[in-house]
Amino acid sequence: MDLTHRTVLIVGGTSGIGLGLARRWAGAGSTVVVGGRHPERVDGFETVRIDVADPDSIRRARDEVLAAHPDLDVVITMSGVMFQENLRDPAHIAQAEASITVNLLGTIRVIDAFTPHLIARGSGDIITVTSGIAFLPFPSMPSYGASKAGVHAYTESLRAQLAGTGVEVTELVPPAVATAGQEKVNPAALPLDGFLDEVIELLGATPTPPEILVEGVRMHRWAERDGTYAELVARRAQALSSLPGR
Ligand SMILES: NC(=O)c1ccc[n+]([C@@H]2O[C@H](COP(=O)([O-])OP(=O)(O)OC[C@H]3O[C@@H](n4cnc5c(N)ncnc54)[C@H](OP(=O)(O)O)[C@@H]3O)[C@@H](O)[C@H]2O)c1
Repeated sequence: MDLTHRTVLIVGGTSGIGLGLARRWAGAGSTVVVGGRHPERVDGFETVRIDVADPDSIRRARDEVLAAHPDLDVVITMSGVMFQENLRDPAHIAQAEASITVNLLGTIRVIDAFTPHLIARGSGDIITVTSGIAFLPFPSMPSYGASKAGVHAYTESLRAQLAGTGVEVTELVPPAVATAGQEKVNPAALPLDGFLDEVIELLGATPTPPEILVEGVRMHRWAERDGTYAELVARRAQALSSLPGR
């Protein structure tokens, strides 16, 4: 896809991967608006306040962005929250609800808000964000994995439903990246810049692959096909011993 001369909204662009990606799109020549609950944290970009858990907030943000940018042609649904959960403690339901509300329902609601505009334009891109954990569970983050597997399945159906409209649907599948505290707990997390180098190269390819899979996520994405799934899940389950309450 063309990364220059686009008008891009990154919902969940106020920190981490989203903010890094905003810098790359802007560096390539595109106009970028970043959104989140805390837009005041961001310098150097136009921002919009949006809480993807609140349908009214999404509608307000949509109206504000489209009024200022009627040529908006890329929407990226980056908002996400990630929690560890101890499924032996029923109190985990709070994390489960938040994961599904923000990661899955929030993605669906943001896409719904902008799809009519993109279809009316007759061209554009929707980029959803899942995780390697959507394809290879991390047992200490059950609802996070379920929400991201849900976003993957939804993305596949969305792509099929929008075929022929000129609106392309792409799924970004990050492995562990050194943002959002990952850098402190996960020595294997990819440095953000190197990750973004790979992402931008894959996004800029013609045609753009339906899934943006950097090298570091392919062993997770294809574990089932490669016959390594059971062994890798068992290895990841070892982290359960450090779960709070276990
Ligand atoms: N880092 C990783 O290892 C990794 C791996 C795989 C996938 N991912 C995915 O990549 C995405 C970005 O993650 P990150 O690592 O960059 O984390 P991050 O720095 O915590 O970024 C999360 C973004 O989501 C926004 N957000 C959270 N709740 C929101 C809400 N209710 N409404 C609107 N925006 C909300 C935050 O903005 P506000 O606080 O301003 O609302 C922030 O911009 C997430 O979807 C995450 O699941 C990350």
